[in-house]
Amino acid sequence: MSRRILVTSALPYANGQIHIGHLVEYIQTDIWVRFMRMQGHEVYYVGADDTHGTPVMLRAEKEGITPKQLIDRVWLEHKRDFDSFGISFDNYYSTDSDENRVLSEQIYLALQAEGLIEARDIEQAYDPVKEMFLPDRFIKGECPKCGAKDQYGDSCEVCGSTYLPTELINPYSVVSGATPVRKTSTHYFFKLSDPRCEQFLRRWVAGLAQPEAANKMKEWLGNGDEADGGSTLADWDISRDAPYFGFEIPGAPGKYFYVWLDAPVGYYASFKNLCEQKGLNFEEWVKPGTNTEQFHFIGKDILYFHTLFWPAMLEFSGHRTPTNVFAHGFLTVDGQKMSKSRGTFITAQSFIDSGLNPEWLRYYIGAKLNSTMEDIDLNLDDFVARVNSDLVGKYVNIASRAAGFLLKRFEGRISPAAMSLPLLVELRAAAPQIASLFEAREYGKALRHVMELADTVNGYVDTVKPWDLAKDPANAAALHEACSVCLEAFRLLTLYLKPVLPGTAEAVERFLNIAPLTWLDVASPLSEAHPVAAYKHLMTRVEGKQIEAMLAANRDSLQAAPPAAAADAKGKAAAAARTAAVPAADVGDGFISIDDFAKIDLRIARIVDCQPVVGSDKLLQLTLDVGEEKTRNVFSGIKSAYAPEQLVGKLTVMVANLAPRKMKFGLSEGMVLAASAKDEKAEPGIYILEPNSGAKPGMRVK
Ligand code: 2FM
Ligand code: ZN
Repeated sequence: MSRRILVTSALPYANGQIHIGHLVEYIQTDIWVRFMRMQGHEVYYVGADDTHGTPVMLRAEKEGITPKQLIDRVWLEHKRDFDSFGISFDNYYSTDSDENRVLSEQIYLALQAEGLIEARDIEQAYDPVKEMFLPDRFIKGECPKCGAKDQYGDSCEVCGSTYLPTELINPYSVVSGATPVRKTSTHYFFKLSDPRCEQFLRRWVAGLAQPEAANKMKEWLGNGDEADGGSTLADWDISRDAPYFGFEIPGAPGKYFYVWLDAPVGYYASFKNLCEQKGLNFEEWVKPGTNTEQFHFIGKDILYFHTLFWPAMLEFSGHRTPTNVFAHGFLTVDGQKMSKSRGTFITAQSFIDSGLNPEWLRYYIGAKLNSTMEDIDLNLDDFVARVNSDLVGKYVNIASRAAGFLLKRFEGRISPAAMSLPLLVELRAAAPQIASLFEAREYGKALRHVMELADTVNGYVDTVKPWDLAKDPANAAALHEACSVCLEAFRLLTLYLKPVLPGTAEAVERFLNIAPLTWLDVASPLSEAHPVAAYKHLMTRVEGKQIEAMLAANRDSLQAAPPAAAADAKGKAAAAARTAAVPAADVGDGFISIDDFAKIDLRIARIVDCQPVVGSDKLLQLTLDVGEEKTRNVFSGIKSAYAPEQLVGKLTVMVANLAPRKMKFGLSEGMVLAASAKDEKAEPGIYILEPNSGAKPGMRVK
């Protein structure tokens, strides 16, 4: 029976690029969606950019553009990346939409009418210069334990200790440098502690598909025993004060919905927009008692939002609740966290730009995925080996071994009699099991099964040896049978792989001269009436050098920023002098000799690439052309002053003979010069040096 299914993936923030970690989720969801469509179900897969919140607001400000300009640009980048990887959204939208505003307001007002919204005064850190409340991550200061400077409000990156933001010594606002003050303001809370919410969530949790998710929920909900404190759910602060990029709360001027309130509503907003385009009845899908299904694919880090807040918001605002939430684990690359310096923080764009086929990644990720929240590893050597062995060596090889003979000897027409050979019967009989593995999100098992079938087919080819049969015209019938079996087997394998390799499947459909494959076509063998087309190479092998190119493209550009500049954005030019100048005892009085100065190799450098450094709010990673054979990688503490795009193409000045320095994020091979005020708190701003026009990379500055 045909099912009606709404599917979502988590909405990516509109202030960063799509990377390989994101792709795990979109690939996982897309495989499922494509599989369900092949089953003949009515499936809608919607997504959107998650556009609101402080980081987007501040980033736009830094770039000197409006938040709207920023999110419009990022939307295009995200859409391009999703299209490249074959992510088949029926609608890709934005949370900054009219539909989302209206739906968020409706949900909020309905919760308010239920008595589940409460206003409360709370005290928070406030930036008196920027005149805004500061989320914890926007406050830094000295570690109360080891004194390290510029540590976040919750933990010290240097000594590893944890503490409260209020314990920081000399705290300052990352936004303006000002010392935060405490300030009271009214906030709106969703009363998750209300017994109705708790009771509802206890019921709802029973339907969760993943045991790990259900266990987490039980942990959050407590055992309900008053003696043990009953429900442990805290009320949820859903408002933020102006200035904030988001939707203003109805009836509360100057208060905005917290980004996480309107983000999941963005699923519905995107779907509503799709319904308008397609003439579907939105209400029918989102009202209680609907016969439609709703699934959310997410990362395990945002389970809390999707299994507590979102279902409760829906339940108490008169909506249906999600049918299920499917969480996946994190991605590691070569067994480690993705890292800029190793080049393993792989952006979607760099993958494509390096000439790698997105279907290779879809296959590899698919082969690693199962229905649990276990982390998965992208091992790059294994990636090359597995793609080449499975897809090229086992799968595509079957077609290339048979197509030539069929075309040359039999006008591309298969032998109908061959279609019922036992090998093909065996392949078709596997369909239900493969289908149930796909539906259960056990893609790894499904693909292993398909590859076992490919092994069987290759074993058959090795036994019948079409190349030997072809030598003697007396064997024409046997050759015809062998080639026909191969191509029908290839059709079946393609059908099973189609959710994972949609682009390849399309090329195969053209080659086999057949209509787009659905799951029902398992039982519709190739027909003599439709001769196959000329065989074109379907997939190339992955080359190690493509992987190298991709890693290089993502590798923290290079150079070692000097210790002071790397660890501290302040006083860069001064830092250069401090670090590089050798004390010249005989000069004295704070002067250096001309010889001292001559030791510093200052060069004109062109910034050929610039990337943010994940895990650092201070550093940018620059790739510099200094007129040498190779570019240099330099980390520079100028992120607060420049957006990466602003710098690409610019000329600047670097210290070229600073000893390379191994940093947490990679090797820094030099330092760029920048000016800043003596008292950066009073007068924030960092300005890189730029030569007059005519200067060329590699020129010496003296
Ligand atoms: O964690 C994130 O990247 C969020 N932008 C996910 C939002 S998912 C949904 F709720 F909108
Ligand atoms: Zn410390």
